[in-house]
Amino acid sequence: MEKTFQFSNRHHELMARDEEYVYGWRYEPRVIFESGRGIMLKDVDGNEYFDLTAGMMSMVLGHSHPELTQAIRDQADKLVHQSSWYSNPWLVEFAELIVSTLPGDLKVVNFAVTGSEANEIAMRMALGVTGRYDIVSVIRGLHGGSLAAEAVTSVGGGRKAHLGPLMMPSHRNAIYAPLCYRCPVNLTYPSCNVACLDHSEELMEHITSQNVAVIMAETIPVAGGMVVPPEEWLPRLRDLADRWGAMLVLDEAQLAPAKTGKMWAFEHYDVIPDILTFGKGMTAGMGIAGTVTTPEIAEQARGKAGLPWGGTYSGDPLPAAVALKQLQVVLRDNLMEKATVLGARLHAGLQAIAAKHEVIGDVRGMGLYYMLDIVEAPDTRRPNHAMAERIRYNALLEGLVLIAVKNFIRICPALIITEAEIDEILGRLEVAIERSVAGYPRNLDFSTSSSLAARSPVAAGSD
Ligand SMILES: Cc1ncc(COP(=O)(O)O)c(C=O)c1O
Repeated sequence: MEKTFQFSNRHHELMARDEEYVYGWRYEPRVIFESGRGIMLKDVDGNEYFDLTAGMMSMVLGHSHPELTQAIRDQADKLVHQSSWYSNPWLVEFAELIVSTLPGDLKVVNFAVTGSEANEIAMRMALGVTGRYDIVSVIRGLHGGSLAAEAVTSVGGGRKAHLGPLMMPSHRNAIYAPLCYRCPVNLTYPSCNVACLDHSEELMEHITSQNVAVIMAETIPVAGGMVVPPEEWLPRLRDLADRWGAMLVLDEAQLAPAKTGKMWAFEHYDVIPDILTFGKGMTAGMGIAGTVTTPEIAEQARGKAGLPWGGTYSGDPLPAAVALKQLQVVLRDNLMEKATVLGARLHAGLQAIAAKHEVIGDVRGMGLYYMLDIVEAPDTRRPNHAMAERIRYNALLEGLVLIAVKNFIRICPALIITEAEIDEILGRLEVAIERSVAGYPRNLDFSTSSSLAARSPVAAGSD
């Protein structure tokens, strides 16, 4: 049966003002949220929703976590912002705690505000140290929206339309993502022997100037389709970088901390990057990202390519204190373990739903971070963008906030989620899928809704 949203006049009025005065991508309906607690969000009418995206994949302890709220209050009384030519105790402690969780010699952090900046710092480091030019990245990778980060991003859609000359000429999106569900070289794992990497190397040989400074990859490319690589892929990518004299950058903005069941997702694989970037989940929503490398690389890069790099707000006391507190809680409460145990329940539930509904072609992910690959039919595996958007809409009606970009729906709740909440969410999600498959909502044009509005010729992604 058709179900519709019931919003107050005030809510409708705020939506209209948002549309008139704020320039941004919005889903329909453009719900206005007013508060959040734990895994729940509340709109201005008091309607409650499960936040299955933890904000922008940032709030690993959920909304208004009491310890973080206290940290914000305490810090607001002490020091919020300072000159980035000086430091503060919280930043020092945050850097120490981060590097204490890392293997190898990853011991120095260049802080930034956004993940895009962190990745640009990584590129500066690699160019500064190697003196080379080419920046090679993974097809389906996303590294941010500032222009150099956008250049190495390749999730398709309209993101790069009209940017032509602003995309740095030395970028080469040359590494095939190991998306076995839609194998880029039409083979089957494991008999393929990860041939996608051999093809990638051939591409590198032909389309780079062979002065490769860096290979950039998300440990698990998320926005491009939650591409969980086969176990050999990352070690072989490391090997490829070494053979080419290039640095390996792993971008964990989407993955750290703890979401995949390890503090850092690359710990699932036998590999250590030269440079590691973080953002989103490490920020507690406060805007503090960073680039970690070895003291040797940091020193070689000093004074080159504008390094060390720091913008106006990089390493400010307020975000540093809050992000520090969040990481302390993540480690104290062993949320890695929690992501593994509860993630297994979420994964099993999603697979059970997928087994009943052919529109879900695949469920990919790790720990407490999953993505549904929405398809037209199981045999063709053709992406079904409109159905993904329809499911997102119906899920919102059921009180679930999801992100759908193209045919991908992601589910990444805060790591404080409980078993009972997972079960409740799975039940509501199934209702939303049933309603979508049955063709509801009728007579609704989704074409202006966020990712579908950005088609050129397929939807853009903006996360
Ligand atoms: C893997 C990855 N790296 C970097 C970024 C960019 O982060 P930010 O939006 O904070 O610049 C994103 C998200 O947009 C991301 O998903």
